[in-house]
Amino acid sequence: MTTDATGAALILAAGRGTRMKSAMAKVLHPLLGRPMVRFPIDAARDAGLAPFVVVHHQEEQVRAALADQPDVTFARQEQTRGTGDAVRSALGVLPEDGVVVVLNGDGPLLTAATLRRLLDAHGDHLVTLLTVEMAEPGRYGRIVREGGQPVRIVEAAEATKEQLAITEVNAGIYAFDLAWLRTVLPALAPHPPKGEIYLTDTLELAAAAGRAQAIVVDDPDEVEGANDRWQLSRLRRVLQQRVIADIARSGVTFESPETTLVEAGVQIHRDAWIAPGVVLRGSTTIGEGARIGAHCVITDSFVGAGVTVKPHSVLEGATVDASQTTTVGPFARLRPAAVVRDGAKVGNFVEVKKSEIQAGAKVSHLTYIGDATVGEGANVGAGTITCNYDGYNKHRTEIGAGAFVGSNAALVAPVTIGEGAIVGAGSTITQDVPADALALGRVRQTNLSGRAEKLREQLAALKKQR
Ligand code: UD1
Ligand code: CA
Repeated sequence: MTTDATGAALILAAGRGTRMKSAMAKVLHPLLGRPMVRFPIDAARDAGLAPFVVVHHQEEQVRAALADQPDVTFARQEQTRGTGDAVRSALGVLPEDGVVVVLNGDGPLLTAATLRRLLDAHGDHLVTLLTVEMAEPGRYGRIVREGGQPVRIVEAAEATKEQLAITEVNAGIYAFDLAWLRTVLPALAPHPPKGEIYLTDTLELAAAAGRAQAIVVDDPDEVEGANDRWQLSRLRRVLQQRVIADIARSGVTFESPETTLVEAGVQIHRDAWIAPGVVLRGSTTIGEGARIGAHCVITDSFVGAGVTVKPHSVLEGATVDASQTTTVGPFARLRPAAVVRDGAKVGNFVEVKKSEIQAGAKVSHLTYIGDATVGEGANVGAGTITCNYDGYNKHRTEIGAGAFVGSNAALVAPVTIGEGAIVGAGSTITQDVPADALALGRVRQTNLSGRAEKLREQLAALKKQR
């Protein structure tokens, strides 16, 4: 949901994220199908803030990963010389004044509600920061209070023993008066040994003016950063639970939410029923009352209302129209541009690619349908193969309405089976079959009476000789 922007959000995403031990920039690591940096961007937008992103490390990749977010403005940090320098490098693209919220590209659990709370509290303060109580505050910056007011942030590496014992830490999420920030940032002194400019040093200046405050966040998860892969896994688990809980509350049954994976772009409508081990990815939609059996993997697909997908089916880029009678699987594979219409059946060990299975058609067992149309009410027998590829080009197979293709037929494309035609089992069909014709493309059977017994005698004699 987008509201009119009431300020700017600056998302810091220039760092490498060394502790991820990855060739990929930290903020690009995927979470529920999206690069991590998308989450703070979405939260900012939902809180009514216009999103700005500071980039440096793998700049091109970060820009490309956000190419579908046209409202994002980028700023380039020339060298990653600390959080203060990161914000300074964005001053040229940010609005002149108003409020700017600064947050981290590696904090995916922050909610729009918490950002709104920060904005509501900010008023005419110069700095409002989010803090959190942590039993083991580790590497986080410690909040030093005097007379109850926050006056300074001390980085763990520079803290005294007493300061290290402070359990209130800096979440790295702040609201600033932007006009004021413009005046103080250029004057911040670099910290030895790396010469980094700390955004956190601004607190002391705002506190001196009596216009700094801290808000303690109740849920530490919200402000936790993904600093290494294990932390990322934990955040993924929390985020996944949040997404599934939201969908469940909207009227969807998850038999085993702990074993279900639902990416952030998936839509599931009410009364759908999701069995254990299901994986739903990309832009998948599951319609009202659809039932998804155990261990199905469904990516970028549409499963219409009322459809039953039985266990262990794999769908990718497929469309299954709404229907109370359509079934897919178990063990079906629908590949890109597979379309299954009302009341059709795609059974076990059936692979369908770039083909339409029209209303009421049945393809029940052990079949490959590629580059084909299976007409309304047609029946394709077990083991039938559309031979769509000659080693150079793909060709189409058209199976007419009401046709019956016997088991284990090889339909050598391009070929058309007319409406109501019957193809004998085991046929190799290389020529079009007219409507209502019977096609037999197989060797005629001969029975040689008594020859089986003779053959057995011969074979037994051969075995003895050896
Ligand atoms: C920072 C805070 C610390 C706080 C913690 C919370 C400072 C000096 N310290 O520490 O008090 O507890 O966040 O997570 O700010 N980044 C850039 N450019 C840079 C440096 C960093 O864009 O030059 C980005 C990083 O990609 C990251 C964010 O800023 O998204 C925070 O940087 P990080 O190095 O993780 O800061 P911390 O040292 O953890
Ligand atoms: Ca960090």
